[in-house]
Amino acid sequence: MNSCIIGLQWGDEGKGKVVDVLAEHSDIVVRYSGGANAGHTVVIGEDTFALHLLPSGVVRPGTICVIGNGVVVDPDTLMKEIERLAQKNITLTKRLFISENAHVVLDYHKKEDRLREESLGKNKLGTTIRGVGPCYADKVGRSYALRMADLRNLERLKAQLQTIVEYKNKIFAALYNAEPINADDIFEKCKSYADKLLPFTTDTTEFLHKSIADGKSILFEGAQGSLLDLDHGTFPFVTSSNASSLGMPAGSGVPAKMVDKFFGVGKAYTTRVGSGPFPTEQDNEIGQYIRDKGNEYGTTTGRPRRCGWFDAVAVSYAVTIGSIDCIALMHLDTLTGLKEIKICRAYKINGKKTTFFPANTTKLSRAECIYETVPGWEEDITEVNNFHDLPLNARNYIMLIEEKIGKPITIIGVGPKRSQTIFR
Ligand code: IMP
Repeated sequence: MNSCIIGLQWGDEGKGKVVDVLAEHSDIVVRYSGGANAGHTVVIGEDTFALHLLPSGVVRPGTICVIGNGVVVDPDTLMKEIERLAQKNITLTKRLFISENAHVVLDYHKKEDRLREESLGKNKLGTTIRGVGPCYADKVGRSYALRMADLRNLERLKAQLQTIVEYKNKIFAALYNAEPINADDIFEKCKSYADKLLPFTTDTTEFLHKSIADGKSILFEGAQGSLLDLDHGTFPFVTSSNASSLGMPAGSGVPAKMVDKFFGVGKAYTTRVGSGPFPTEQDNEIGQYIRDKGNEYGTTTGRPRRCGWFDAVAVSYAVTIGSIDCIALMHLDTLTGLKEIKICRAYKINGKKTTFFPANTTKLSRAECIYETVPGWEEDITEVNNFHDLPLNARNYIMLIEEKIGKPITIIGVGPKRSQTIFR
């Protein structure tokens, strides 16, 4: 069976843990979009692994990991991740495959990301400054792009870098009055990337199709969340790739119809990092309670996340565009101790009620939430491993969400560890 895991909100839903749990039943785990802007945390025993580029399945020794063509690879970050895992005796020889068609994030992409954000002032997007947007922009523009396969021919790469750096320096000087970058320095770094990463680099589309033909099971791991999807999210406050399940076929070379099950991952509330409309945001003591209790600070940037109530309108939209079959609802334990909990079941926009999420930012920023309020629970639920042992109000909350989004919640997270998971 092949499956795909997708974030249903604005990222940080806890996908890493769900991938890790489901990877037990998969031979191969594939990342297909985004770059080192993603931050997936997996807790195993005493060890916490914060992964940015490697698929979360990597911490399971026998699992094969693929970084697909749709990912933008930051070699520095990737090499650091590989080294850190090696220190824990987790080796990747013969089980990491990086697409030769994946584009490469270099220092000038990060510089461009930072300079652009700084120049936008209060209108900035709030990116992670990982160079992801500029690298995807180069991919679409084609003329100044570099892919993993380009690391194979160093002589040609040197000439490519000369052309790119000349072009980038014109932009840095004209738009930002910034220091130029040096092609030789970048080339030197690229030589070490070639050394360390080319042994893992291959045609991953061919590898995946051969594996499917051999009866292997594949788990596709989405990064970020559906509402940050470049085409279907809250543009321009989105990431630069298709973070919903719609990005999976293009980012891996495997058609969606070869996937048997799409799992959506959501949190029992909502968070968002960076700018953009967020109808259920609680910029008050409720939001602070959730932030503190759920440790809602970015894995990649450490920024405090904006927190708010569960938004059934937004999640239903992600379920619809993502063809989601069932849901993993994470962080239920974070809500323990709240007297009342709210679910947004509809929006009122310009006096009109709607239950269909408008990805259009202008409309969305006018949305007033229509809430349903339910009683909370006080009991500690972090050791519960059976749905029926949850407090009645927690069970009712889960069932109300299921009713609102019309899909079964089959996995419930009650803490960060692998063991703190309820399967229904
Ligand atoms: P970028 O992907 O770094 O260009 O950032 C664009 C927007 O996506 C910003 O609002 C980021 O905070 C958000 N973003 C990017 N990656 C993640 C993630 O992994 N989790 C949550 N938000 C993210």
